[in-house]
Amino acid sequence: MNNCVDLRVNFAGINMKNPVAVASGTFGFGTEYQPVVDPSDLGAVVVKGLTLEPRDGNTGTRLYETPSGLLNSIGLMNPGVDYFIDNILETLKQRDINVIVNISGNKLEEYARLAEKLSKCENIKGLEINVSCPNVKKGGLAFGVDPELTFDVVNTVKDNTDLPIITKLTPNVTDIKTIARACEQGGTSALSLINTLKGMAISLDSKKPVFDNEVAGLSGPAIKPIALRCVFEVSQVVNVPIMGLGGISNVNDAIEMIIAGASAIAVGTANFMNPTVSKEIIEGLEKYCIDEGITDIEELVGLSHRNN
Ligand SMILES: Cc1cc2nc3c(=O)[nH]c(=O)nc-3n(C[C@H](O)[C@H](O)[C@H](O)COP(=O)(O)O)c2cc1C
Repeated sequence: MNNCVDLRVNFAGINMKNPVAVASGTFGFGTEYQPVVDPSDLGAVVVKGLTLEPRDGNTGTRLYETPSGLLNSIGLMNPGVDYFIDNILETLKQRDINVIVNISGNKLEEYARLAEKLSKCENIKGLEINVSCPNVKKGGLAFGVDPELTFDVVNTVKDNTDLPIITKLTPNVTDIKTIARACEQGGTSALSLINTLKGMAISLDSKKPVFDNEVAGLSGPAIKPIALRCVFEVSQVVNVPIMGLGGISNVNDAIEMIIAGASAIAVGTANFMNPTVSKEIIEGLEKYCIDEGITDIEELVGLSHRNN
């Protein structure tokens, strides 16, 4: 590690040794990749989305590859928050990992109880609120597509935690800036964007949708231009830091995202294609900074606005 480049970022109060995190649902609970990536080398690990009760997830096909993206319909399969606290967090505690816990609920009270339970645990550095899962609905409406409902979720979590709150936005809206502003007003400490886009696949054999739920979430390289646009737009209308994600597969993608306005980035689907990609991105960021004569990675954040 060349000491001339400072890759550290303080992301909404979370001290990250570099700006590279791994995205919820794509890195398990942090230790599964241990043989190839030491999770304590990463800026943060955002663990698989947790709900109050365990969930089996969706039936039928859950993953389907498209030419430049992945469709998933996992359905928030997870062992439930109590199991996580009693059995998994203990292992993570023994290592120096910046753990951010991703939470989902069907009702405001569920978000409140999740926040309350997790806030009592040591070694959790932040909560990422998933308001953008197609399975998470209030009165038939996903929280993250309505500014008032989004405000309510953020505000409820805020009332039940002292941890930094990162609200994860969906791109499946007409104007993501409106939702971002609602999160800021609700008291979020940061935003992460984007979650998956709604997509689908048809089986030529059965002549039916591939997924039991018909619609699934698209991630991977196909969505990077959309994620960049969202980060670029949102970073101009809020004062909270942004974790940019969506299709980041290499160091150049990560740099673009930072220049577009992200203070930190997360790697998702790319972990499945190249399990060491997050490590390569950290090394690549350092090399890029040295080549460009940048001493502090934060100099790059949002540079595209200033250059516009
Ligand atoms: C298999 C899979 C599972 C995911 N599970 C979650 C989850 O539990 N909670 C969540 O907020 N996002 C989840 N996501 C969304 C990712 O965290 C990320 O926002 C999205 O995939 C876009 O980034 P990417 O293109 O780098 O994968 C999941 C994505 C995939 C591919």
